[in-house]
Amino acid sequence: MTPTFSRAAPPKSGVVAVPVYQDAGFGEAAAGLDQASGGALSRAAKAAGFVGKPATQADVFGAEGIAPHVVLIGVGKPETFDLKAAEAFGGAASARALKTDQKALALLVDDLEAVDVEPADLAARIGFAARLRSYRFDKYRTTGEGSEKPSLAKVAVHGAAATAAKARYADLDAIADGVFLTRDLVSEPANVLYPESFAERCRELESLGLEVEVLGEAQMKKLGMGALLGVGQGSVRESKLAVMKWSGGKKAQKPIAFVGKGVCFDTGGISLKPPANMEDMKWDMGGAGAVTGAMAAIAGRKAKANVVGVVGLVENMPDGAAQRPGDVVTSMSGQTIEILNTDAEGRLVLADALWYVQEKYKPTRIVDLATLTGAILVSLAHEYAGLFTNDEEFAEDLIAAGAAVGEKLWRMPLDKSHDDDIKSPIADMKNIGGRWAGSSTAAAFLKRFIKDGGAEWAHLDIAGMAWLDKDTATAPKGGAGFGVRLLDEYVRRFAE
Ligand code: BES
Ligand code: MN
Ligand code: ZN
Repeated sequence: MTPTFSRAAPPKSGVVAVPVYQDAGFGEAAAGLDQASGGALSRAAKAAGFVGKPATQADVFGAEGIAPHVVLIGVGKPETFDLKAAEAFGGAASARALKTDQKALALLVDDLEAVDVEPADLAARIGFAARLRSYRFDKYRTTGEGSEKPSLAKVAVHGAAATAAKARYADLDAIADGVFLTRDLVSEPANVLYPESFAERCRELESLGLEVEVLGEAQMKKLGMGALLGVGQGSVRESKLAVMKWSGGKKAQKPIAFVGKGVCFDTGGISLKPPANMEDMKWDMGGAGAVTGAMAAIAGRKAKANVVGVVGLVENMPDGAAQRPGDVVTSMSGQTIEILNTDAEGRLVLADALWYVQEKYKPTRIVDLATLTGAILVSLAHEYAGLFTNDEEFAEDLIAAGAAVGEKLWRMPLDKSHDDDIKSPIADMKNIGGRWAGSSTAAAFLKRFIKDGGAEWAHLDIAGMAWLDKDTATAPKGGAGFGVRLLDEYVRRFAE
């Protein structure tokens, strides 16, 4: 479903959503409907004690002269109705419509003069948020209909700036496609989405103009990727490395690189995880999912930048062939690693993926994304992804891009002490640190695979962000699609 934009009067069918401003009453849109219905909206608002506070709403059913279901949605004060408030409005309307048996949603936009954003951008964001919030992962539900398995066939945004809004929306539709791809990947169970089938999903992106290359175990062995291959060696599924390349920038321009942890299932390996909630580890490929969705978004909107996305795809299983605690592996970089806990596997996958992307593509900047540590949940819960980098400007730029799209980052420390923590008595390093600051020792491990004097590098630990335990303004619970908007915005601001 792609939203449409129209200047026409609101329909008299389906669900119609109107914004109502706190302390300022009805805007033009609501006032129009109120008049057409002989005052039904203002009577309903009064009866419900509804005054337009953010995150409140009131239904008006069966009024004459207007649609049978009008939802008044509180959006706060008109002077604070910015892009974020527009997203909250679009998302709330979409969520409400999904709880009905109706298939069509119309959202009305006022031509606000008080805010510092063009009405066309507000309208575009409203449609974008309505689409994002309408996502469902129902492919495995064979029963149920109507509001049990809801979908919106039509979303129309009604406002004066319709033509301009439609043009502004075009890029956002590509971004929503990318977010949906990431949510799909994150939601798929591991019996369906394993390294080979994940790589196949990457390959399908060739239709968007991406160049896709997939390496198998034989090729990775030749390249010396002992760290990544060690993680996958206990699985009957072959490990893969998928590379997606977008060349929308100048020929001579070196790319920026996105690298994702794609552990399609993480049992912990021989250092087996406890059974409770182990099913969550189907989304241990959330970093790779974000990179794949971001590449789809960037290609879909034909970004004028050179970007390469690399995802390391493995399954971490206990098995007779699995790697053991105490094993020593040699990474593609030549550095050796003593594996003291086979459950600290994400960093091993990233070590070789990071080295590969530097050798092959000489990127100027690298962002890796990974559901890397439980410790980041202890620090930041579900509000912020952890950001680790030693480059001040890179940190600021990423934080700014994230803030602009509502994907927040919080900078975490990355010190020499964390690096000291991963010294091994028998190899160049061990794959775990001590008891404390587990997210920082993991980052210190990754840093050892960034070449000196080479790319600027940032690591995002998204373990708390890849999966939603409850609905948000723009997403139902389940796969969040976190990272797609952030990476896209970063490219838009700092690489185009
Ligand atoms: N995939 C997990 C981290 C994780 C935990 C992601 C919870 C999402 C939710 C990672 O591979 C892992 O197992 N990390 C260990 C590291 C430890 C063994 C040093 C952890 O965090 O406990
Ligand atoms: Mn693990
Ligand atoms: Zn993991």
